[in-house]
Amino acid sequence: MTFDPKIIEDSFAVAKPIAADVANKFYEILWTDYPQSKALFANANMAKQKVALMNSLALVVDHIRDAEWLTDYLYKLGERHAPYGTQPEHFDWVGTSLLKTFAHFFGDDWTDELQQNWLEAYQAIAGLMLPGLRDGQKDDVRETA
Ligand code: HEM
Repeated sequence: MTFDPKIIEDSFAVAKPIAADVANKFYEILWTDYPQSKALFANANMAKQKVALMNSLALVVDHIRDAEWLTDYLYKLGERHAPYGTQPEHFDWVGTSLLKTFAHFFGDDWTDELQQNWLEAYQAIAGLMLPGLRDGQKDDVRETA
């Protein structure tokens, strides 16, 4: 199955007003469950990073029915992640932590249907970032060669 955009839109609308809390919890979970990820953010301004992540997710959800927009935006976002040290296998860390964060805030309202739909949506998002990331990694190699 693939995801239902309305389920993604409606559930993200719940997270949006508490975006700062969601971002705090997300990085708490990411760094606790995947301590290896912490080094990637060693030089980051985390206050800015939290806002950037939530704004980016909001933008993606706003365009979740627009395949052309998503393909272009997420390719470029993936490309920008190459110099941050992101590797393809890191997407699982972020996806698992993001869904765990949503589950935390939804509590008993976090249904199997929500979990499944977000899993599919996240996989689609990561899948569109990956080609950009891979191309960005090639550019990095060329630049340092
Ligand atoms: C849905 C997936 C993701 C989204 C929406 C996302 C979004 C963002 C955004 C908006 C930025 C701010 C800079 C920019 O726009 O280029 C950023 C930076 C960053 N992201 Fe992601 N990201 C995702 C996945 C990942 C993954 C899988 C990793 C690796 C664990 C990662 C690690 C980083 C790092 C290290 C930075 C730079 C922090 C800094 O030094 O300023 N991101 N991300």
